[in-house]
Amino acid sequence: MSAAAGRTAAAAPGRSGLPILNGWYAVAVSEALAPGTLERLHYFGRELVAFRTEGGEAAVLDAYCPHLGAHLGHGGRVEGEWLRCPFHGWAFDVQGACAEIPYAKRIPPNARAGRYPTVERNGFVFAWWDPSGRAPWYEIPEIAEATDPGWSTPDRYEWDIRAHGQELAENGVDSAHFKYVHGTRNVPATEAEEDGPYRRAFSPIRMKTPRGEVEGGIESRQAGMGFAATRFTGICETLELATTTPIDADRVHVRYAFLQPRVDGQDPVGGAAAAIIRDIVKQMNEDVPIWENKAYLERPALCDGDGPIAGLRRWALQFHPAETPASRT
Ligand code: FES
Ligand SMILES: [Fe+2]
Repeated sequence: MSAAAGRTAAAAPGRSGLPILNGWYAVAVSEALAPGTLERLHYFGRELVAFRTEGGEAAVLDAYCPHLGAHLGHGGRVEGEWLRCPFHGWAFDVQGACAEIPYAKRIPPNARAGRYPTVERNGFVFAWWDPSGRAPWYEIPEIAEATDPGWSTPDRYEWDIRAHGQELAENGVDSAHFKYVHGTRNVPATEAEEDGPYRRAFSPIRMKTPRGEVEGGIESRQAGMGFAATRFTGICETLELATTTPIDADRVHVRYAFLQPRVDGQDPVGGAAAAIIRDIVKQMNEDVPIWENKAYLERPALCDGDGPIAGLRRWALQFHPAETPASRT
């Protein structure tokens, strides 16, 4: 059961009018959550706590203790496989169940902390958000390069952005903006395929180099609204792992991790490898002020030169809390 089961419905829609969408969202970087430690989080409009047991399992719980409401992230401690509340010493396991009350003979049946299903993939801890309490119905794919010693240690970037995640997803298919916001010379033609909660887009690109034209491409694979792996091929192979996590209905926390093939066992330094990362980060910084100040139009006046924005919106509908078919449970 997800944490949110039996609790109030999703947070109210924000400035865009869109609710927080269901799915897997990155809430921490795996290596930053060491065994025996916890992290205070604020996502999905809620106070949360992530912890890693001494045995190595990561878990995400509602921060407020079901006993008398202490914040587990302020003075709570990981002890073995449990998280101990600082107020009266109750201990919770990774499922949120109360495992011990040091001064009681019986554990009350409702002594259960709200719990979010958790998986670790590709160097991130993901938590499942669905306020109706349904179990996860899709998966975050394993990306081979993320654990391949032939690929570099991730180069990480993050942003807090005052925008809804759907606005960010739309940007990837908004082909006309590449010229006007990012100054790219031509509008790349994109092929897109959908497969349930997964989406793949491919844009072939030609690049001029001193040794002639190089064929390349940008292939992006998205799993739900929270995760995308994008491969840049051509001059310098680069993998971008991007996660977008709702802080609330109005804001997102975006994390980028870039990986590139090692050269003679070393992470690449400078040159074309660094330039491609710099350019992607620059594009993100160019998009932010547009997103933070735009309105979300339910019925935009789209033209034939725009990318498949309507298609992206239709695809995103499956993650809307009211729209996800009940048959998926
Ligand atoms: S409030 Fe957590 S043990 Fe009492
Ligand atoms: Fe953009």
